[in-house]
Amino acid sequence: MSNQTSDLIKEEKSMKLEAIQAAEQKLLLNTYQRNPLLFVGGKGVYLRDEQGDDYLDLLSGIGVSALGYGHPVVEATIIAQSKKILHTSNLYYHEHTAELALRLTEISGMDRAFFCNSGTEAWEAALKVARAHAGVLRAEGKTIGTKFLAMEHGFHGRTIGAVSTTYKEKYRAPFAPVMPGVEFVRFNDVADLRAKFSDEVCGVCIEAVQGEGGVHPASQEFITAARELCDSTGALLLADEIQSGLGRTGEWFAYQHYGVQPDVTTLAKPIANGLPMGAMLCTEEAARAITPGMHGTTFGGGPLVCAVAIAVIDTMKQTNLLAHVREVGGYFKQQLEWLQSRHECVTAVRGLGLMLGMEIDSEEMAKRVASEMMKRYIIVNRTSETVLRFLPPYILEHKHVDQTIAAFDEIFSKITSTSAALAGATSAGENAHG
Ligand SMILES: Cc1ncc(COP(=O)(O)O)c(C=O)c1O
Repeated sequence: MSNQTSDLIKEEKSMKLEAIQAAEQKLLLNTYQRNPLLFVGGKGVYLRDEQGDDYLDLLSGIGVSALGYGHPVVEATIIAQSKKILHTSNLYYHEHTAELALRLTEISGMDRAFFCNSGTEAWEAALKVARAHAGVLRAEGKTIGTKFLAMEHGFHGRTIGAVSTTYKEKYRAPFAPVMPGVEFVRFNDVADLRAKFSDEVCGVCIEAVQGEGGVHPASQEFITAARELCDSTGALLLADEIQSGLGRTGEWFAYQHYGVQPDVTTLAKPIANGLPMGAMLCTEEAARAITPGMHGTTFGGGPLVCAVAIAVIDTMKQTNLLAHVREVGGYFKQQLEWLQSRHECVTAVRGLGLMLGMEIDSEEMAKRVASEMMKRYIIVNRTSETVLRFLPPYILEHKHVDQTIAAFDEIFSKITSTSAALAGATSAGENAHG
């Protein structure tokens, strides 16, 4: 194909992006500020745009496409299951529900599973279990209230219940009044947790590694204290593993790094590698509060998503992916620390496995760096204003890390030398006029 022809095709395709942008702006609820990229395909750790350009994806659709794009086992499972049956409703049995629940309870140390369609919905179920469980305890004569303790900078989703336990004011305020009875605790502040905990509390809400809050791992003391406090009254420890769970941190669940077992945990993002699915897992003790009709969902745990989730877990086991996540995640973190040692604008590196964050000294700089990375065909996400967050597919390799680190190093050096040159020119100018 001549250069001229390929340029024409590119132009025509970018017109397609423009047309879609214009239509969406008019037709969709104004919820997202999308990047101007139109993806049409993907393979492994790369996403392909309509121009045929491949992007190294260090976000994997916000921690979702854990096995990467176009995974042969996922594709084959979707095709095979879609030829059998897509939906049965929860009024009947299908062949995959118990099989998946068995796998999830085995890897989590929980007893029972509830399947739904998103992270928020899984978290909503967790809150309802905590409230219902406290109700059972009260009926048995125990003293326990209905309040939740949630964490500053925590994120649990967007329904009214979930958003009530989410810290950022801007997510809650427009929808006031949200669910009452939620108090926020300073994350990792054991004294604050102890001061706010009482027998009024039915559940303590925690992310072992806060994701949207800027990739902050909990301290061992904090998680241990939360477990002990809950044990002292019968309140439930609710661990939101929607972002950190199913291998993201190099263990099946991030709480397993701490040797602390929660009463309830929630999963979603990577569980069906891109198909919408959520799960709430809990102990037998917590589960006894729920009886038929109390909670449910039409689509939850359908045959297609369950079949894919089984395939995801089995593939992860067969390919020893947890060990790979630990190894490549350790290398990635080490390389980010090397960047920190070279560039003053990198103020911290945090995280576990392939859930990593690099803190930049200003929001403006963080934005600029993310957009420079995009120009180099590397997708990097920014969260909590100043944190560049990495949630790549678990199949990431050293060569991808090296490509990323080289691009950051070049960008940081360029920005620093441009700023130094500008500062030099300004002070030279000042001297000249002074
Ligand atoms: C920790 C955590 N909880 C809950 C949610 C909400 O999940 P979803 O967007 O699937 O509803 C998210 C999403 O980012 C999350 O990171």
